Amino acid sequence: MINYKDEIAKVLFEAEIGLTLEEIQDMVEVPSDNKMGDYAFPCFKLAKVLRKAPPMIAKDIAAKIEGNHMFEKVEQVNAYVNMFISKEDFVAHVVPEVIAAGDEYGKCNIGEGKPVIVEFSSPNIAKPFHIGHIRSTVIGNALYKLWDAIGYDIIRINHLGDYGTQFGKMIVAYRLWGNREDVINEPIKTLLSYYTKFHVEVEEHPELDDEARKVFAKLEAGEPEEVELWQWFRDESLKEFNRVYDMLDITFDSYAGESFYSDKMPAIIQELKDKNLLVESNGANIVQLEEYGMPPILITKSDGSSLYATRDIAAAFYRKKTYDFVKNIYVVASQQNLHFQQWFKTVELMGHEWAKDCVHIPFGLVSLEEGTMSTRHGRVVFLEDVLNRAVEQTKEIIKEKGVNTDDIDETAKAVGIGAVIFQELSNNRIKDYVFKWDKVLNFDGETGPYVQYTHARACSVLRNAGEIAANLDTAAIDYSYITGGAAYELAKLIYKFPAVIVDAAEKYEPSVLTRHIVDIAQGFNKFYNEEHILVDNEEEKKAKLALVLAAKDTIKNGLALLGIKAPERM
Ligand code: ARG
Repeated sequence: MINYKDEIAKVLFEAEIGLTLEEIQDMVEVPSDNKMGDYAFPCFKLAKVLRKAPPMIAKDIAAKIEGNHMFEKVEQVNAYVNMFISKEDFVAHVVPEVIAAGDEYGKCNIGEGKPVIVEFSSPNIAKPFHIGHIRSTVIGNALYKLWDAIGYDIIRINHLGDYGTQFGKMIVAYRLWGNREDVINEPIKTLLSYYTKFHVEVEEHPELDDEARKVFAKLEAGEPEEVELWQWFRDESLKEFNRVYDMLDITFDSYAGESFYSDKMPAIIQELKDKNLLVESNGANIVQLEEYGMPPILITKSDGSSLYATRDIAAAFYRKKTYDFVKNIYVVASQQNLHFQQWFKTVELMGHEWAKDCVHIPFGLVSLEEGTMSTRHGRVVFLEDVLNRAVEQTKEIIKEKGVNTDDIDETAKAVGIGAVIFQELSNNRIKDYVFKWDKVLNFDGETGPYVQYTHARACSVLRNAGEIAANLDTAAIDYSYITGGAAYELAKLIYKFPAVIVDAAEKYEPSVLTRHIVDIAQGFNKFYNEEHILVDNEEEKKAKLALVLAAKDTIKNGLALLGIKAPERM
């Protein structure tokens, strides 16, 4: 896409104003008030070299560049050259480029194919995949897509919580009270019930705890029977998680979970010892972080078993060795802030400079209108149920509205699930939010259905235009028809789209993109409502249809980056 800042720098450079191209590039500004032009060039710096008053210099420069076709108007105001871009030149550049790029519009190659890891979702095996998990899953997927769009090579990792003493308990419980069929039919609910029963029974039979510990030791030692059961629990749980991932259209490149690192921890513990970082404390091993304002990090327990943090350190080492990442991103709730700060610091103290490339991307809590969730009290809302309910309710709304669609089930799925994702990505990730059904599925608010509906509306305009829209020759269009009012404002929003993607990726903040897509949808609807598009004048109609097509592609690409589909009819 044409970069106006660079183009303007070139024009100024060619006008021989006595600065290098790089110097000029650094000085071109975007005035905060667009009455001062779309771009401005301050002349203070030149005053010394030219020994002239800045306003005089600005006046000379303005006179030199005024005739360029890129500008509608060039003005000298005090020490500034204020430049107003020719609207026709602008839309004639932007619209054809967007159309030519199609699905690729918005992408760039800042990343040059460098490897970046995005770790997200990472649920715990045999525990419910509940509404709280939606955040890491959906934010992580959007971050993957954003970083991919700006040219990095992304490795998506699901760091499954598939390790720890609870698996000893689960195996004991299964052997005592389990039933194979039940596990197969409803793995997570069943395994969870065993786990709960174990905790009830252990009150009266404390020996169960010893048994569980023994079984876990066997599992760690790789005893076939225990490993087989654990593997089976893991596979069955994953099947259930995968149902949700399928609904959300999310995939991973690796499911290397915590268990994967069990044989990789001794080397880490050894390195910590060798570097004199490990301190014994009541039989346990810790790293002191007091100097850095943090409590110590626990590396091994007094019984020698390893911990969550140790596995995270081992995983980071493995990832560095395997993928040589330039960034290792963890999309994990803000409750774990301290955990990440502690182990990032530990890796730094071990002397690995790549510790600085590990980033924790935290997010706030989601709660339900009905009140907070609690696994312990059985107030768990399964994510799968939420998604199914969204699809069902959407189907009702679609029927009620008499929406025309080829396949009501497909559309209801795209809109219902899209609505949940969109809501999730609408707010700054760090904010807590309340999940509200009527807000999620509102077709008129700043919601997923509203944006999807706008996209479908653009598709419908193009369909209704028939042949003429299908055969637009963007080089032969008279763009002067779309240089006014709502049309021009829409073109400006479309032009900003690639920069917004970079901004959203670099801030790790999908909501920056979500908000911009809402702006484009609103911009489109303003244009649609204020202007007649399918006019008699063929030339005018072509220019307007080109803008509709560019807007449609941009909205579709934006939704795709959030992980949301854009049905053509609804
Ligand atoms: N399984 C953990 C949980 O559900 C999240 C894992 C986060 N990732 C990590 N590398 N520690 O709380």
